[in-house]
Amino acid sequence: PVSVEFLRELPKCEHHLHLEGTLEPDLLFPLARRNGVELPAGFPQTPEELHRKYAAFADLQDFLNYYYVGTNVLQTEQDFYDLAWAYFNKVSKQGLVHAELFFDPQSHTSRGVAIETVTGGFHRACTDAREQFGITSQLIVCLLRHCPPADCLQTIEDFSKFLTDGTITGIGLDSAEKPFPPGLFVECYQRAREINPDLRLTAHAGEEGPAQYVSDSLDLLHTTRVDHGVNSVHDAELMRRLAAERTLLTVCPLSNVRLQVVKRVGELPLQQLLDGDVPFSLNSDDPAYFGGYILENYVQVAKEFPHWDHAVFAKIAKNAINGSWCDNKRKTQL
Ligand code: ADE
Ligand code: ZN
Repeated sequence: PVSVEFLRELPKCEHHLHLEGTLEPDLLFPLARRNGVELPAGFPQTPEELHRKYAAFADLQDFLNYYYVGTNVLQTEQDFYDLAWAYFNKVSKQGLVHAELFFDPQSHTSRGVAIETVTGGFHRACTDAREQFGITSQLIVCLLRHCPPADCLQTIEDFSKFLTDGTITGIGLDSAEKPFPPGLFVECYQRAREINPDLRLTAHAGEEGPAQYVSDSLDLLHTTRVDHGVNSVHDAELMRRLAAERTLLTVCPLSNVRLQVVKRVGELPLQQLLDGDVPFSLNSDDPAYFGGYILENYVQVAKEFPHWDHAVFAKIAKNAINGSWCDNKRKTQL
């Protein structure tokens, strides 16, 4: 297998990271105290106890139940800044050069936190990361698919200004996948395209849901990228299409293990994706919950695909650069 040092030096891009998913237990408890947020009855009382829960999620929903509690401790602009800054600080030591970052505005507006508070803190951290670490980044607004589509549509309207002034690069769709197919959000994506035709579009699909959700994301929502997408391998026609259209799948190895999508990273269909020439990137999803940041994801893949040499990882990193949403000038630098 390739060495950890090689993987650290490799210029890596992250396309699938939820900023709320970088909230470490060590920060969660102090923030809850600082903001006077009461944690629900039965919630773990210490970071150690919480880490033990995180090691044994039953599925996506079990994780989300903890994730949304964590989200509630974030309240001030400085909280959002501190959260994103802690992330940049960590990955600046892991060879990350470019990050496209999700956040879930509805988790905050539903508690009375203003979108300017959330977006302001995150955006300020992105600016500082560029200055201090040379890491470029973009922000992606994710719609919560367990919420009524009308709520999601309202979120798009509320973000109109940020969708056109360059603050937000794209729209995504996350949360509980299975009873909430892409078709429910056609109007939301259509409205986003109307507000800014250059907006980039992606959606979580094919994590717990079927390959059909991946096709539907492309056909109905007009996404040019798919988050997770690992269930695409069950549809040969779809695989050919992803390859032909150069649609990037943002795969999250450690997440897929922790959420029981696969038993081990080695079971992921990464070789099939390579063989089918389907571009994919490796990502951390919710690193504070799943036991690793970007480098740990690369390292685990290298361990479980020990026959992959430097050229394979160089190809993965190159596909990640090519599938990024930065401009061509930045791509050449990466
Ligand atoms: N929200 C945060 N992480 C997620 C994931 N892996 N799938 C769906 N929604 C999410
Ligand atoms: Zn995700």
